Amino acid sequence: MKELLKVLSPGKREWSLAQQLDPQRLPAHIAIIMDGNGRWARQRNFPRILGHKQGINSVRTVVETSSLLGVEALTLYAFSVENWKRPRHEVEGLWRLLRYYLRHELNTLMRNDIQLVAIGRVESLPAAALDELQSVIEKTSNNRGMRLNLAINYGGRTELVDAVNAMLDNARLEGNLDSLEISEESISEHLYTAGLKDPDLLIRTSGEMRVSNFLLWQIAYSEIYVTETLWPDFGRSDLLEAIGAYQNRERRFGGLTRSTSSLESSPLLLEEEELELPLA
Ligand code: IPE
Ligand code: IPE
Ligand code: MG
Repeated sequence: MKELLKVLSPGKREWSLAQQLDPQRLPAHIAIIMDGNGRWARQRNFPRILGHKQGINSVRTVVETSSLLGVEALTLYAFSVENWKRPRHEVEGLWRLLRYYLRHELNTLMRNDIQLVAIGRVESLPAAALDELQSVIEKTSNNRGMRLNLAINYGGRTELVDAVNAMLDNARLEGNLDSLEISEESISEHLYTAGLKDPDLLIRTSGEMRVSNFLLWQIAYSEIYVTETLWPDFGRSDLLEAIGAYQNRERRFGGLTRSTSSLESSPLLLEEEELELPLA
């Protein structure tokens, strides 16, 4: 948080948004569905790929801001397993952009001590994109600052299928398939996000009210924030605003908050006989 304030100019909107945040209650893990690149381009009569290219600037800003804030993990949805349905030239353009981003961002990632990890079935990527990706993953593997998960060729259902198959394979190898027991912990430990906290905050840009197969297991209790802003327009202030909204939420995880549970001692609570719900 302190690191971020150092780079903001006092008096600017992002400065006052940052000042309003409670540094003790920052989301440890933020996940973002970066949507609206195509619409951003269409509004300007540009080809869709220029929307994706512009979106890279937002990625840069959000990655650096999150790292300076002290966020532990940032997961960005870059390409879904369903995105192969798009025209070939768009998909190929996205792989070129991924290579461009990785090549140009390495220095920033190193400077900020960010560790890049890919989540998804990346083995299906074209060789050139996969090589670039593996090289940056390798070079940043000893960084101990923020963990940046790039979800590429990612699907939430695919991830669960992969997790279950990994558990079955391990059990077969160890010869204890018959006694294999599945628990929430064992599933979590076999997801691509093993070892990470679940996202506290899930952001989706461009106003779409759906999760589009993103982190289905991990977002069980994430706070969801949807903004109309298109991804290429999403900047530092937008991120700080989303975190501010998150800090105003009341997270209950199915329980009661202190203010609600204090009603227990209030006269509003009825004795069993007063409830008049005979079960006999
Ligand atoms: C998100 O922008 C980027 C990817 C899915 C790769 P879109 O390309 O989905 O943009 P819209 O939704 O068409 O505006
Ligand atoms: C979700 O956006 C995938 C990414 C942001 C990478 P889409 O644009 O693919 O999602 P739908 O098709 O609108 O649900
Ligand atoms: Mg979209």
